[in-house]
Amino acid sequence: MMKLSSSLLLGLSLVSIGSAQAVGSAQAVHPGKLAVQDELPVGKAASEHPLPPGWDKLPAGEFGEKIIRGYRYFVDSQSLSPRFVGNGLNCINCHMDAGKKENAAPLWAAYMSYPAFRKKNNKINDYQERLQGCFMYSMNGTPPALGDPALVDLSAYAYWLAQGTLTGESFDPSAMVIPSDADLLKGGKRDDFPFMLSYLDAGGSKEPALPDRGYPKLDEPKQAPDIARGKAVYEQECSVCHGANGEGQQVNDRYVFPPLWGPHTYNWGAGMQRVNTAAYFIKRNMPLGQPGKLTDQQAWDVAMYLDTRERPQDPRNHGDLEKTREQYHGGNSYYGTEVERRTLGVESYPNHPNKPR
Ligand code: HEC
Ligand code: HEC
Repeated sequence: MMKLSSSLLLGLSLVSIGSAQAVGSAQAVHPGKLAVQDELPVGKAASEHPLPPGWDKLPAGEFGEKIIRGYRYFVDSQSLSPRFVGNGLNCINCHMDAGKKENAAPLWAAYMSYPAFRKKNNKINDYQERLQGCFMYSMNGTPPALGDPALVDLSAYAYWLAQGTLTGESFDPSAMVIPSDADLLKGGKRDDFPFMLSYLDAGGSKEPALPDRGYPKLDEPKQAPDIARGKAVYEQECSVCHGANGEGQQVNDRYVFPPLWGPHTYNWGAGMQRVNTAAYFIKRNMPLGQPGKLTDQQAWDVAMYLDTRERPQDPRNHGDLEKTREQYHGGNSYYGTEVERRTLGVESYPNHPNKPR
């Protein structure tokens, strides 16, 4: 195991509360016409990204406390284990910089994109239902029930990031509309959203753009993604942190480098097990501290390698692997297919193994 310096550890996951951050300059917005972008043109200047608010913009009082609790759940999701979390991950492991980083599925863009229809469950999902999905699959756990205080707090954190980001420099948290819990849980993409209505009243009319949502797509690879090439990339660029067998690294029983496959990571229902989604994430965010180091082809190859390793079962599999594959897994998932003479999904690890009975 590699020796870790304490300053490296501190830098990794602990985003200190109280550090004031620069605040962006997005314009006031018009509610009905949110232009949410799915894709980001490559090579955009950093200064063009909307900047989320810093802690100096935290509202006082009860709502501020909800935001802080939501932030804590997000960076230290292990505090929701064993009730809701069944693996060693934290939300921040995939939504970098506490959900603030553009191109790493930022929460400010996410919050303004729900309610939305999702093919995954074939219905319109409000924001709290989208959160439930990440608990079920990315966290290999059991989602909090609709309306649970944990979902309220996580929504409050995202709402605040969204409102501050869209407002820009003039964001005044003391004037922020405080929605009811029921309103908060729905998400911001609707004409009756209180925050948006207050904008209209204030004369806001400029159409907002929410670029940098999700993980920006890569072009299809020139050569089909290849496990052997991916393994070589993994050994060269990733194993120093994530371990020779994707097992991650722990200090005092906590992961400082998250596991990528095996029993303690995201399950076969998660977004990250799709090779395309993993390639997009990896290209922009890994190796940690050196985003963009890999060529597109290397990102596809290493994504192929890690997403053809075993991990916890798809919780929608009730005994019929083939049917689960057919119903839920498209061409970018290798679940239920034969790879290296084993069928993926046959020897998967259990769902929510630490669930209180
Ligand atoms: C310097 C250490 C380091 C290197 C090298 C590194 N990672 Fe990571 N990786 C991390 C850390 C730390 C996180 C969690 C980020 C956070 O919490 O802010 C992470 C997160 C991830 C995640 C999402 C979380 C999860 O468990 O799935 C994936 C996928 C990933 N890395 C893949 C890779 C790949 C592929 C490579 C090699 C190309 C790589 N990493 C290289 C440190 C590293
Ligand atoms: C293993 C990686 C991983 C972890 C851990 C994770 N997520 Fe996600 N999350 C994803 C992926 C992948 C997506 C889909 C992004 C896309 O399709 O571009 C996503 C999407 C989302 C979205 C919707 C984003 C959008 O723009 O529509 C929200 C909100 C979200 N996650 C919240 C959470 C929360 C809260 C947690 C912790 C309880 C969490 N996630 C943990 C990988 C992860």
